[in-house]
Amino acid sequence: MAQMRIDKLLASTGRWSRREVKQLIKEGRVLAGREIVGRPENKYDPEETEIRVDGAPVGLSAYHYVMLHKPAGVLSATEDRRAETALGLLPPELQKLGLFPVGRLDKDTEGLLLMTDDGELAHRLLAPRSHVDKVYYVRAAGCLTAEDAAAFAAGMTLPDGFRCLPAGLEILSSGAESEVLVTLREGKFHQIKRMLAARKAPVLYLKRLSMGPLRLDPALARGEWRYLTDLEVRALCSLKAAAKV
Ligand code: URA
Repeated sequence: MAQMRIDKLLASTGRWSRREVKQLIKEGRVLAGREIVGRPENKYDPEETEIRVDGAPVGLSAYHYVMLHKPAGVLSATEDRRAETALGLLPPELQKLGLFPVGRLDKDTEGLLLMTDDGELAHRLLAPRSHVDKVYYVRAAGCLTAEDAAAFAAGMTLPDGFRCLPAGLEILSSGAESEVLVTLREGKFHQIKRMLAARKAPVLYLKRLSMGPLRLDPALARGEWRYLTDLEVRALCSLKAAAKV
C-alpha cells in the first residue's frame, strides 16, 4: 500500500467520519509506530507503520466486515421501498461503503447476518462446495425424532423435487413442539421451513447462530451490530484461502 493521509486512512475503515478522525488526532489518541500523530495531513504506509487508536491496532484492510443481529421484520437487503433493510440498521457512514448481506435470512428469521463489501469472501462462504456450515436454532410445531434426523442426514428430496444436501438435525427437546439445531451447507429459499414442513413440523421460530467459524455475539441485542474482530476476519479469510485450493 502506498503512503496515504492518516485522516483518509482512518475514515476509510468506516469507524469514524473525517471530522471524528480530526478530533481523535487533536486529542492525541492516534499513534503511528511510536509517535503521536500531530496532523491529519501526515502520510503513512500502514504496511510499514502500525497505526493505533487508543492503543488498539486499527485493521486497515481494504474491506469492511460487520456482524448484525438481524431482528424479525427486517429484510436481508440493501434497499427496499417499503420494508426496513439490514443496511438501514447500520450508521450512515457505513451505509455509504457498499456493504451487502452475505446470504439471505427470511424477513421473519432472526440472528447472525454478516455484511461486507468483500465480494470474493461472500462468494466463497456461500458456495456449497466450500462446506461452510450454517447453524440455526429452530422451534417447530411437531414431534421431531431420530427418524427425522436420519432423513436430514441422508439428504432429503422435497415434495417439489428439490434434492437437499445432507444436513444436521440435533434434537434439543421434543414433544408437541420441538427445539432443534439444524446445520445446513447450502441456503436455498426457505430451506429449513420447507425441510421441516416436509417432516410435518412447521417452523415457529428460526434464528441463525453461526456461519462457519463466525458466531453471533451474545452481547448483541436484536438490531445491534459490531465490526468483526481481527481474529474473526482472519478465520473467515483462511476459509477463503482454503476454498481456493
Ligand atoms: N431457512 C429458512 O427457511 N429460512 C431462513 O431464513 C434461513 C434458512
